Amino acid sequence: MTIPGQLDPPPRLLLGPGPSDVHPRVLSAMATPLVGHLDPYFLEVMTQVQDMLRQVYRTANRLTFPVSATGMAGMETCFVNLLEPGDLVVVCANGFFGQRMIDVAGRTGAVVTVLERPWGDVFDFDRIRAVLQKVRPKVLSIVHAETSTGAHQPLDGLGALCHEFDTLLVADAVTSLGCVPLEVDDWEIDAVYSCSPVADLAQSAGRRGDRPSEDEGAELVSRPEPGAALLERRPRLPPHGTDHDGLCPA
Ligand SMILES: Cc1ncc(COP(=O)(O)O)c(C=O)c1O
Repeated sequence: MTIPGQLDPPPRLLLGPGPSDVHPRVLSAMATPLVGHLDPYFLEVMTQVQDMLRQVYRTANRLTFPVSATGMAGMETCFVNLLEPGDLVVVCANGFFGQRMIDVAGRTGAVVTVLERPWGDVFDFDRIRAVLQKVRPKVLSIVHAETSTGAHQPLDGLGALCHEFDTLLVADAVTSLGCVPLEVDDWEIDAVYSCSPVADLAQSAGRRGDRPSEDEGAELVSRPEPGAALLERRPRLPPHGTDHDGLCPA
C-alpha cells in the first residue's frame, strides 16, 4: 500500500449552506489528544457543550445534545424516536426538505399525510389547524427555513396549536438556527434538529466577511419533556445508530 503524503488542503472561503470554514480555535482543538468517552474530562466538556446548546436553542430542556452526524441524521433521529409503525404523522411540504421529511417519516412505517404548499410559500395556521382537526396525528413536522427556496416559516404559536390536538411538533432548523430567531421553549417545539456547519457558520462568515467565529459542530437535537415522556414508552426500539438513548449523554 502506498500511503499518500501529509494532507495539505488549499485555503478556501466557504460561504454556502453546507461545509463552512471554521475558526482557527476550532481547528487547533481538533488537533488535541483524544480522550475516551467515559473520561471525566470528556464528560465535563460534554456538559459545557450541552449548556451552550441550550442557550443557542433557547431551551432549558435536559435532552439537548450534539450528535456527530449530518442534518439528515438529525431528521431521522427525531422521526425514528417519536414514530412507530401505524402512527399518524402530518408532514408540511413546501420544498425539497419537506419532501425529504415525507420519505424519512414514511420509512418508520408511520402513515403520512402530506400538507402541501407551492415551493416558496409558507403555511398559514388555519390550514394547519384544519389538517390537525381532520387527521389528529401524533406528530406534525415542518421546515423552519426551506433551503431550496429560502421560505421562512413562522413557528411562533404553532407548538401551542399542535398541543391543542395532543400532537408533537417537530421542526427542521438546519438553515434557520443562528440566522433567524428560534425560541424552542417559548414556541413549544417538541423536537428540533439543526446542523451547525450549515446556517451558523454561513451566517457568521457572511456577517464578518472573513472567517466565521462560531464553533464547528455536528448534529444538534433538543427535545422538551412531553416528547421525552413519550420516548420512555416506546414499544419498538428505533435503529441503534439513531436511538436517542445511545446518543444522549446522561
Ligand atoms: C432544511 C434542511 N434540512 C436538512 C438538511 C440536511 O442536512 P445535511 O446535508 O447535513 O444532511 C439540509 C441541508 O442543506 C437543509 O437545508
